[in-house]
Amino acid sequence: MAAPPLSMKPTGWFQVAWSDEIGVGDVRRMTYFGTDLIAWRTESGRITVMTAYCEHLGAHLGYGGHVQGEVLQCPFHGWQWNADGRNVCIPYEPRPNRGRRIRTFPTVERNASVYVWHDVDGREPFFDAPDVFGAFGDDRTAADYYPQQRLFEQGHEMHPQYVLENGVDFAHFKYVHQTPITPIFTRHDFAAPVSYVDFTITFTGDDGQRIEDVDSGVEAVNGGLGIAVTKSWGMIDNRTISCITPVDDRTSDVRFMVYIGRPAGTPRNPERARAKAEEFGAEVIRQFRQDIHIWSHQRYSDPPALASGELEGFTAIRQWAKQFYPDGIGGSAAEVHAAHTKG
Ligand code: FES
Ligand SMILES: [Fe+2]
Repeated sequence: MAAPPLSMKPTGWFQVAWSDEIGVGDVRRMTYFGTDLIAWRTESGRITVMTAYCEHLGAHLGYGGHVQGEVLQCPFHGWQWNADGRNVCIPYEPRPNRGRRIRTFPTVERNASVYVWHDVDGREPFFDAPDVFGAFGDDRTAADYYPQQRLFEQGHEMHPQYVLENGVDFAHFKYVHQTPITPIFTRHDFAAPVSYVDFTITFTGDDGQRIEDVDSGVEAVNGGLGIAVTKSWGMIDNRTISCITPVDDRTSDVRFMVYIGRPAGTPRNPERARAKAEEFGAEVIRQFRQDIHIWSHQRYSDPPALASGELEGFTAIRQWAKQFYPDGIGGSAAEVHAAHTKG
């Protein structure tokens, strides 16, 4: 399949791991945005994501590099690098090399996830990674929910923007997710790098009901193209985080998490309540898989053949997405092609 005409090196926050995958002293190898990276955690708990190669003679620090207190020691000649990518010790010289620096990426841990800021021009973060509990203006925390359930899939030929476009795509719900009636969007706010989408939706009842009578829905907050968080209302209490991270020019890693709300008070049968929550979480994951099945085989359509009701939402989201692409590319295939052939 053709590589997507959208840049696979967008700017923003992207998930590269779950926090519990990188314990104190661990060095983990990964490849994102076509770059070999490592993530490592110091004794004090600080996590660093950096280019994988030692600036001395180029050893891959993910093969035998080891954490010593707050620094990472190269397996080849023992040079030590700190969490800012600075050389702090050459064991056979009185002074470190203060000039060379391994490229590190701004990193935050939030919602049990490790997010890195990626920008081809090395600009500092200009928005915040969304918090699935902080983004919705309520006081619920992880303690109000059962432990998260996760999905992790690799190697899909899909672009992060496909996932975001679900947020304006009212028509797919009936066909991909078998909702009885078509949802309606009640908010589309694409004014800033963090955008907001709300919709009224139901998964129950028959196709004779009117959407105007439905009292359940979803609020979504998109932190750039890489991370989207949602909160449900009027149905089983759930929160989700979907993260799409480009690996190379063709494929992305997909991570998805769902938290199911704990019942208020102590349930009469806690074991049964937990099992029910697990079942419901599995159903949410199943629905997300239905989307992945479409996205991973999709070809980006540009310009798309839109129904009149789709025009406004898709125009807005595609315009919004451009700010995350190098040189603002990403709206028109012709522009992207020109930029690719230029380079
Ligand atoms: S290559 Fe890392 S210390 Fe020499
Ligand atoms: Fe969907």
